Amino acid sequence: MSNNSAVGIHDLSFATTRYVLPHAALAEYNGTEIGKYHIGIGQRSMSVPAADEDIVTLGAAAAAPIIARHGNDRIRTVVFATESSIDQAKAAGIYVHSLLGLQSACRVVELKQACYGATAALQFAIGLVRRDPDQQVLVIASDVSKYELDSPGEATQGAAAVALLVSADPALVRIENASGLFTADVMDFWRPNYRDAALVDGQESVQAYLQAVEGAWKDYGQQGGRSFEDFAAFCYHQPFTKMAYKAHRHLLNHVGLVDTDKDDVERAIGQTVAYNAVIGNSYTASVYLGLAALLDQAEDLTDRAIGFLSYGSGSVAEFFAGTVVPGYQAHLRSEANLDAIARRKQVTYAEYRELHERSFPTDGGDYSTPTETTGPFRLAGLSGHKRIYQTR
Ligand code: COA
Repeated sequence: MSNNSAVGIHDLSFATTRYVLPHAALAEYNGTEIGKYHIGIGQRSMSVPAADEDIVTLGAAAAAPIIARHGNDRIRTVVFATESSIDQAKAAGIYVHSLLGLQSACRVVELKQACYGATAALQFAIGLVRRDPDQQVLVIASDVSKYELDSPGEATQGAAAVALLVSADPALVRIENASGLFTADVMDFWRPNYRDAALVDGQESVQAYLQAVEGAWKDYGQQGGRSFEDFAAFCYHQPFTKMAYKAHRHLLNHVGLVDTDKDDVERAIGQTVAYNAVIGNSYTASVYLGLAALLDQAEDLTDRAIGFLSYGSGSVAEFFAGTVVPGYQAHLRSEANLDAIARRKQVTYAEYRELHERSFPTDGGDYSTPTETTGPFRLAGLSGHKRIYQTR
């Protein structure tokens, strides 16, 4: 295989939570004008995990349809990207490996760098597949985004997992070699080990994100990347969907194009926000939920270039491109994607608040969770400091 052979995303599947809270319920509780949520930040509802769901059950639920379709004979690596890790030592992907019955001849590892982690996983996966094109890599991005109750970040919570099967001759999107990178040491968002909810300086994080877009794009050009006009659409990391619009306008101004034409911006971003607007921030998964929404909704993207901007607070960003493979429509999971969103059960604000404040005991005792999820996997409880999972 030469360095120019196609490697990329062969399959994409996602899962989200049992419950959903509409922003209308949050607004009614805290007195916020609903326009701030629906228009100002571009969010309609947020996925809320049930007591028996976590990043493992979501990740396994996202990946199971991929294994069902492609088998697991060629998967020798699983990379699990998350910033809502459940253990300081053991990779969450090992539980998923077990729940999915993957072969023992497999390496499994967890990756962390805020919302950017899944993009690092994708790039590392491409490197492994280039070394041996017979192998496939399962990349799982799974996160529960949790901020303090009554904080500005509360409206941007969410949860979901995306699974990507990375292989040679991909059926969906070929990932190109040129990549623009940017790292800066900023404290815009972080979560110390002793905290459940993230700490964030919201306004600072928006500015840090925009700076990173500029930096990653600049490096992308220096690495021989495509010109701005080549792209049919742009998938940005979406902590809230309005951020994609802010980022794109910033990039337009940076490349010397004035963002007066609203239709142009809408064409570039509009079809990438549908899933994130109703799921909320899914951290590492969000940029790939943007891709899922775009592929599911766009009329025909065959051979068109898509720009990806992945940002993880702290901060690392990467800009790269993918080209859509002829025949990709036959491999999409559009119906299952819509179903995952539609089948969530609406909770009241009071129910959401109770779920938010629930935390696991830390005494090592036995504790079982109520059966709430209807997903294929559930977190049954804790015993002797161990998480116990069940397959349905
Ligand atoms: N109708 C329409 N728009 C309204 C509105 C109304 N009634 N009321 C407010 N808005 C707009 C504001 O003008 C603002 O738009 P702008 O950003 O284009 O200026 C937007 O809604 C948000 O208002 P703001 O006052 O900035 O909200 P906030 O102080 O609650 O903070 C975040 C918003 C996103 C910073 C906050 O939710 C947060 O901290 N989120 C977590 C961190 C995050 O997601 N960071 C992103 C980078 S990773």
